[in-house]
Amino acid sequence: MLDIKLKLKPGHSTERDWMAPSPLRTLFWNLTYSCNFDCGICFTDSGAAHRRELDTREALDLVRKFHEAGVLDVLISGGEPFRRQDLISILAEMGRLGITTRIASNGSLLNKDILTRLRRETLTKSFQISLDTLDPRLYGLMHGAPPEMLPVVLENLRLIQAAGFHTTVSVRLAESTLPGIIPLLDRALHEGWPTLTVHCPVYTKRVRGAFAKNQDAISALAPVFEHFCDLPQRWLVETYIPWAPYHPAMLRLARMVRVVHRGCHAGRDRLTVNPTGLLSPCVCLDVPEAYVGDARTDDLGEVFSKAPLCEKMRHPARHGICNDCANVASCGGGCRAQAFTITGRIDGPDKSCPVWNGRAAKKEGR
Ligand SMILES: C[S@@+](CC[C@H](N)C(=O)[O-])C[C@H]1O[C@@H](n2cnc3c(N)ncnc32)[C@H](O)[C@@H]1O
Repeated sequence: MLDIKLKLKPGHSTERDWMAPSPLRTLFWNLTYSCNFDCGICFTDSGAAHRRELDTREALDLVRKFHEAGVLDVLISGGEPFRRQDLISILAEMGRLGITTRIASNGSLLNKDILTRLRRETLTKSFQISLDTLDPRLYGLMHGAPPEMLPVVLENLRLIQAAGFHTTVSVRLAESTLPGIIPLLDRALHEGWPTLTVHCPVYTKRVRGAFAKNQDAISALAPVFEHFCDLPQRWLVETYIPWAPYHPAMLRLARMVRVVHRGCHAGRDRLTVNPTGLLSPCVCLDVPEAYVGDARTDDLGEVFSKAPLCEKMRHPARHGICNDCANVASCGGGCRAQAFTITGRIDGPDKSCPVWNGRAAKKEGR
């Protein structure tokens, strides 16, 4: 994902070098496509469950496979993970094997009992709750949900914090949500949410209401960055965007606050498991062109170390990706999901990269 994390309070950060060679350590696991919301922007195209989704026994078998493959941490997402009745048993099995979990959810299906069980029975560390806006009408439009869900989710955020989980609130950057990001930052300060994550647009699957593909959405965030820097409480900004260190808006921001670039982990220390068990290096690439194996039948460690697409992601320049750009050694060859959605080729150029765009403009004499 192309994320910018505005962190108000210290915590939940790592100093690990994302480019350093690594074994498989983390997984994104989209447990279901079933979702009670109908977001216009959704890179998993969720809605109804798929008939081949893993059943409880298969999911528990996979957890044991994860452990054998050396996985330490799993990011649970979907669809809406709380649509699965067996979610807590699956997380509990991971906890029993020492695997920590983080959950991405729309926050609408939670209650105190569920949170108490998660605390007692699992090693869940944190929640990321989607909250695109504080305006109920826009909330309904963005999330494909009744506007009345907004106060429910805000109340559930309080329960999550009261239960002691690290809490991130996330917003998809779109023209409609941009004006509401400063109010979300103020609300984060007021409610004590430690992190506000801005998801920059990725164009796989549903993209109703997203910025145009050729638009530089990050530049539009300048007033948000200034507001963040003026908050009475702020810690740092983390980016998970390969080329962020070269973006003019990020360079300006780095003069005002500490900015740490954490690149992209897809294929470097992470794989994604989709609801039917298919493996892809990247959570935003749940597409046949990116499938590298099947978790039901394949050895995860072997897929991770041998799949040609993972190898390309670890060593882009060796495979012709960005090999004429001096930054490739530090940016890792851009975002493969953006390359795929813009050019139709996973190993094509990432045309959302500001350096690529600058060079293209020069060549064309723009
Ligand atoms: C796919 S959702 C699934 C989990 C859960 N149902 C939820 O609403 O958070 C996980 C996260 O991806 C973000 N997201 C979905 N589609 C996106 C896209 N095309 N670009 C950027 N972020 C996206 C959502 O805002 C959400 O925070």
